[in-house]
Amino acid sequence: MPKEIKNPSKYLGNELKYLEMVLQAESWSATGGSWNQALEQAFVRKFGVRYAVALNSGTSTLHAALEAAGVGPGDEVISSAITVIMDTTATIHANAVPVYADIDPQTFTIDPKDIEKKITSRTKAIIPVSIYGLPPDMDPIMGIAKKYNLVVIEDNAQCFLSTYKGKLAGTIGHMASYSFENTKHISCGEGGMIITNNEKYAEMVRKIGGHGFKNLKADEGRIRLNQDVFQNPNYKRHDEIGWNYRLPEFNAAVALAQLERIDELVEMRVKSARLFIEVMSECDYLIPQKVPQGYINSYYTLGVIYEGEKSIGIKWEDFRKKYIKNGGDGIYGAWSVPYLEPVMIERKYVRRYPEIYSDINYEKGLCPVAEYVQPKIMQFKTNYRDIKLAEEKANILYNVIKKINK
Ligand SMILES: Cc1ncc(COP(=O)(O)O)c(C=O)c1O
Repeated sequence: MPKEIKNPSKYLGNELKYLEMVLQAESWSATGGSWNQALEQAFVRKFGVRYAVALNSGTSTLHAALEAAGVGPGDEVISSAITVIMDTTATIHANAVPVYADIDPQTFTIDPKDIEKKITSRTKAIIPVSIYGLPPDMDPIMGIAKKYNLVVIEDNAQCFLSTYKGKLAGTIGHMASYSFENTKHISCGEGGMIITNNEKYAEMVRKIGGHGFKNLKADEGRIRLNQDVFQNPNYKRHDEIGWNYRLPEFNAAVALAQLERIDELVEMRVKSARLFIEVMSECDYLIPQKVPQGYINSYYTLGVIYEGEKSIGIKWEDFRKKYIKNGGDGIYGAWSVPYLEPVMIERKYVRRYPEIYSDINYEKGLCPVAEYVQPKIMQFKTNYRDIKLAEEKANILYNVIKKINK
């Protein structure tokens, strides 16, 4: 019997060592500890940006970024129709109105031409999403932002070290948001980061995420630096309304250990994706996400269009079952287009702010390309930490395809 290959543990670096150091430290919070600071500085160096602000998820980062951008009640925020719900909910947390632009059917990323069509006098921001690791076409998006004076927040939760025309994704928009949720390139369970070159945005993101403490600065997340000042009863602490979106020091320490190995972590996903792409060239019904020339995809997952119903008469669900039955891993579908989720269809947002939302409705047909493509998408797993395991799974897919081809 060949030895079963297992996916190695996610902590192959300094995670345990750093966690012990946090346990030994006086502060387990970003308000006084040094691990958030260390993680942020590591991001600053890795991305070559001026500021990084760590928060506790890739949703709190989006919300804080929108607030920092000045997005407020009744403003409109344009995002993609192929993404998770969080771009929508973060927009609603800012009391703004989600607007959806359609996608390119081959790259699955937001279509700049449709963004421009959706702009109104209320539009304040655009959230282009790097879906499955591929950055959107950022040049026209930044052009539109300039023309209409909009803030661009790159949602790079699924995208680490991808590039667009030689530029690192995350350094093109006015801010970029990252997530350290369990499945992401870097994980610490839950966590997130905003990077930006704009001091005002960085300071505001920190305040929104940190109870609005007035002594939070673009490059300083600790608030108890001067005890004489901080303990004085006359000291006034708050000059903004904020939330508590702070990242615990434990999470920051684990995320830092992961960031130290980010090149290797990304490379593993890219190599795994390539193995599957090669196998998929054996058939005409698994069409990988197009990576246009000048782009590098960091392959959070391998997104594919499944055309098997038409080509081989096998339903999406049945192809997935076949692959799993032969030893393959689960295949994820794409998340529903956000505006067709029950929360949006049932208009749960209206009660939050009836003056703003009572006339807002979303219906099928709003983004026809996304609605057509979404049910066909398959996401193949790429987070193999032993390339032999990826090879084994790609080989299983190869055998499934070969059997069908016979
Ligand atoms: C594209 C995208 N945006 C935002 C998020 C939200 O991140 P989090 O789960 O850390 O809140 C995720 C992750 O789930 C995501 O994939």
